Amino acid sequence: MKLIMLGAPGAGKGTQAARVAAELKVPHISTGDIFRSNIKNGTELGRKAKEYMDAGKLVPDELTCDLVADRIAQDDCKGGFILDGFPRTIPQAEALDKVLSSRGEKVDYAVNIDVPDAAIVARMSGRRACVSCGATYHIEFNPPKKEGICDVCGAELILRADDKPETVQTRLDVYHEQTQPLIDYYAKQGALVTVDGTQPMDEVFAAILAKLGK
Ligand code: AP5
Ligand code: MG
Repeated sequence: MKLIMLGAPGAGKGTQAARVAAELKVPHISTGDIFRSNIKNGTELGRKAKEYMDAGKLVPDELTCDLVADRIAQDDCKGGFILDGFPRTIPQAEALDKVLSSRGEKVDYAVNIDVPDAAIVARMSGRRACVSCGATYHIEFNPPKKEGICDVCGAELILRADDKPETVQTRLDVYHEQTQPLIDYYAKQGALVTVDGTQPMDEVFAAILAKLGK
């Protein structure tokens, strides 16, 4: 199954993508995590991406589309994948459709996690992310077993640089302007399913599986 996760920053794309990927046994591909790992490793791509990410802006399509095309061409994606945070613009969605249609494939579902802006701003300050594996926690709603330490890999948990309230607002503005149009784009393809992302995490997960017929 080929899935994409849509939703505002902080809607819960990463949280749910990780769980759905484990359930469906397909890779979870987060462009945000790929960029953050490149920043951590000091690569050229990381250097270029950092200035956009820290400002809450989108990394340009030309740095993003080829990266995803290469990733989904790898062997582990043969049985499907979950894209989290890509596509985020109409040109990215068109680029993805082009790559898939050249292989006789298409996006099966675009899962839109719907959360109003006010709830997002409240959520972000409590998020903690693993510097190493990208796992996501929340100090109140999903705390790690040991404070400040990742349950999955034991590395340190941090507040992401782009989770400052003023940057969160820019990310929301960018989302409404450039990413929200994808909801219509996938509705027209008949691939869109929407779940209420304000519910507790387990209920959001169950709602997604139900929409996927799992
Ligand atoms: P990216 O890493 O994709 O960030 P984002 O879209 O802004 O989304 P987040 O990761 O912040 O939120 P999420 O929806 O994954 O929510 P989470 O599960 O963590 O991108 C970062 C930057 O990289 C972009 O700004 C851009 O610069 C660049 N970039 C990435 N992809 C790009 C692309 N394709 N093109 C161009 N640029 C790109 O949940 C949030 C918090 O809420 C967590 O603490 C979680 O524990 C908690 N939570 C989750 N669900 C619930 C719930 N149901 N109830 C209560 N709390 C919950
Ligand atoms: Mg995420």
